[in-house]
Amino acid sequence: MVTIRDVAKEAQVSVATVSRVLNKRGYVHEHTRVRVEGAIHKLSYRPNNVARTLFKKQSKMIGFLVPDITNPYFAQLVRAVEQVTNEAEFTTFLCSSEEDLQKELRHLEKMQENHVDGVIVISNTLEWEHLQSLDIPIVALDRTFHEEVPTVRIDNYEESLRAIQHLLDEGCTRIAHIQGPAHIANSTLRFQAYTDLMQAKGLPVLSTKGEYDLKVSEQAVSRLLEDHPDTEAIYAGNDVMAVGALKAAQRMGKRVPEDLLIMGFDGIDWTEMVTPEISTMAQPIEEMGRQAAKLLLQQIEEGVTAPAKTVLHASLLTRQSTRGKVNR
Ligand code: RIB
Repeated sequence: MVTIRDVAKEAQVSVATVSRVLNKRGYVHEHTRVRVEGAIHKLSYRPNNVARTLFKKQSKMIGFLVPDITNPYFAQLVRAVEQVTNEAEFTTFLCSSEEDLQKELRHLEKMQENHVDGVIVISNTLEWEHLQSLDIPIVALDRTFHEEVPTVRIDNYEESLRAIQHLLDEGCTRIAHIQGPAHIANSTLRFQAYTDLMQAKGLPVLSTKGEYDLKVSEQAVSRLLEDHPDTEAIYAGNDVMAVGALKAAQRMGKRVPEDLLIMGFDGIDWTEMVTPEISTMAQPIEEMGRQAAKLLLQQIEEGVTAPAKTVLHASLLTRQSTRGKVNR
């Protein structure tokens, strides 16, 4: 008897891809779909109806894999996703990975054991083959994952240029950047935008690593300001690091914005709870979460193939931390 594995082998795709073609669920590239259907016809394959019936059974649960639930950015995303999934009477199987691949794989295994109907993934460590075997709809959020996986994100490079331009418009020329983890694509894109724009303006490039972390950023900025006391502004690759920079500056007796301007990225609530409030390039966190949840539910409930990528726009929120040219 011809099996789904024979079809996958003939079409040179994974079993998961053949399953997505058969069930009209999840995203399949047009060329891939044609190849699979050709193999089904050539081998006269007939799906196992019992398995398909079992397959259709829904747990009414989605998996959501985030890197760091202690970062308000991800907590605010979870809240936005759940507003949509709860309305559809789905529960969320939430896992925090600390960007650790082994933890991510263990979480995915647990999600599979619990028969989640679909998964939203935020990761820069998982590979596509880790997810293919899940054989359920997937949506990537915030971070690009794979061309076959529908993705909801912003344009990190362009939005980073806007954040730096705001500091340039405030009259700053000696701007330092706090970079996030080098293995995370959106961190390197924001850093690349910084170096490209500063070099284009003929201005000095000065950066340090904050790992998207509060304490690492505070320590790194303390060192940077000791070594470069003439720094006029700091552009942090995320708001958590911007708060760390503020703590470092104030501990060193520097006034913000009078002596030093500080700019963040993300738009988390913390930036409004510190003094002075921190300007930030605010990602549309709630809209990103809602769109990702809707795309996943459409695939689960209607078998709708989601668009390859949804790119949303950030908003420049100017607050006290970047008001006024640095007094010299
Ligand atoms: O603050 C966490 C960062 O990692 C955010 O900028 C977000 O884009 C995520 O990828």
